[in-house]
Amino acid sequence: MLQRWKAYIFPAADGGEYRWGRIKASLLVLSFVLVCYSAVSSGGFWWSGPDCAQASLRFSSGPAPTNLSHIVFGIGGSARTWQQRRSYSELWWRPGEMRGHVWLDEEPAKEQPWPGTCPPFRVSADASRFGARAAPARMARIVAEAYWALGKEDERVRWLVMGDDDTVFFPENLVAVLGKYDHQEMRYVGAPSESVEQDVMHSYGMAFGGGGFALSRPAADALAGVIDGCLDRYNYFYGSDQRVQSCLSELGVPLTREPGFHQVDIRGDAYGMLAAHPVAPLVSLHHLDNMKPISPRGGTQIEALRSLVEVYRFDPARIIQQCFCYESGWRYKWSVSVSWGYTVQLYPWVLAPKDLEIPLQTFQTWRSFSDGPFTFNTRSLKPDTCEQPLMFFLDRVQDSEGSVATMTEYSRDESEAAGRPCDRPGFDAALEVETVRVLAPRMDPTAWSRAPRRQCCRTRRTGKGKVLEVRIRHCDPGEITSPP
Ligand SMILES: *[C@@H]1O[C@H](CO)[C@@H](O)[C@H](O)[C@H]1NC(C)=O
Repeated sequence: MLQRWKAYIFPAADGGEYRWGRIKASLLVLSFVLVCYSAVSSGGFWWSGPDCAQASLRFSSGPAPTNLSHIVFGIGGSARTWQQRRSYSELWWRPGEMRGHVWLDEEPAKEQPWPGTCPPFRVSADASRFGARAAPARMARIVAEAYWALGKEDERVRWLVMGDDDTVFFPENLVAVLGKYDHQEMRYVGAPSESVEQDVMHSYGMAFGGGGFALSRPAADALAGVIDGCLDRYNYFYGSDQRVQSCLSELGVPLTREPGFHQVDIRGDAYGMLAAHPVAPLVSLHHLDNMKPISPRGGTQIEALRSLVEVYRFDPARIIQQCFCYESGWRYKWSVSVSWGYTVQLYPWVLAPKDLEIPLQTFQTWRSFSDGPFTFNTRSLKPDTCEQPLMFFLDRVQDSEGSVATMTEYSRDESEAAGRPCDRPGFDAALEVETVRVLAPRMDPTAWSRAPRRQCCRTRRTGKGKVLEVRIRHCDPGEITSPP
């Protein structure tokens, strides 16, 4: 041991470089441990060990962590509809910080300059030779065109991410998801449709294009090399996404399913789905145009989405993450479900976590407007308001406790709050709650590279019963959330 320490401190002539590297690395790790230790001892309430343990491990060698600069976006658009659709891209696109293009079918009208708030455009190559269905062939070819468009200086690009002009991406979470995978291997990442009828008709093994999908550079390279032959062979398909999948299937590359990509193949109101998201980062949402606005905030779908995107920026990893807690007092027992940054449900009765994590079915299937089946379980939303939770929607967000935490506040929809939903005594105390105030530590962006675990919370009534305070925190090892 002593010999080894000596060797560290007095590096031998040979391998001196190497040892210096080791010493520097050790010092870095040591300083990290110290920083972490002080965070644990001072922060107390919010912090717990695993974050820091993980952080120090990050000094191990290997490629630098994936970030936005490693991603190139390819958005399928059309010149004639771009003006109506552009507000979706403008919600998430950050000029100067992101790379990629909207691929149009023709040159846009010259009257207006191309808005600087949108991704720059390119015009796709003519795809009319691929038969009557040239439009999906053009869309499918965008992957290849985006790949060919990479110059020599783009060697850093690791992933090509495709989406529609009405896809909303959550970029930090996209980075977190892709960062889990080795970009030097062939990967195809996305998710099938929510409606079983759609998966049966198209494919369970396909990333539905509107939810977006990612191809690692080697996968994009291989696909680009064979795409034209595939477009000939599979020109009978309806969509571009199925052409891409058929071609990847020839290459033997299966879909890696990530539950954060959302095609949103449902009708009606996406509320139930967004209020009970799986324990996985939210990566995308698609074609919400014809659905009920996801919240009463702002009045239109775009404004409701803007509110979600704004709160997202306060704590990207945590957006719509669920957690459950119980509040009981004299003659009442409540179950509380938080979907962070979006909504809080207060049930004036007791429901187990296994039920709270199942979406309320506020929607129908995409094709036949039926009550299912979906690729996940649903709970029916009973018409009797005594069987429905009180629903609170996000009002405001701000930093809290310096910048290590956030405070979000939720209130009931005014139109609904006006009436008395239910005359049962159990509702009395619940109806007094005007505001739910949620305090949450900012989630570690690397949390999603570890095994997912729902976080824990506890509640407290304040403000003479008008405020329900929820404190979210890491669960202790082995901690359970069980109904009272
Ligand atoms: C992204 O990663 C690269 C290394 O590949 C690094 O040079 C760059 O500074 C990183 N960008 C950001 C914004 O962190």
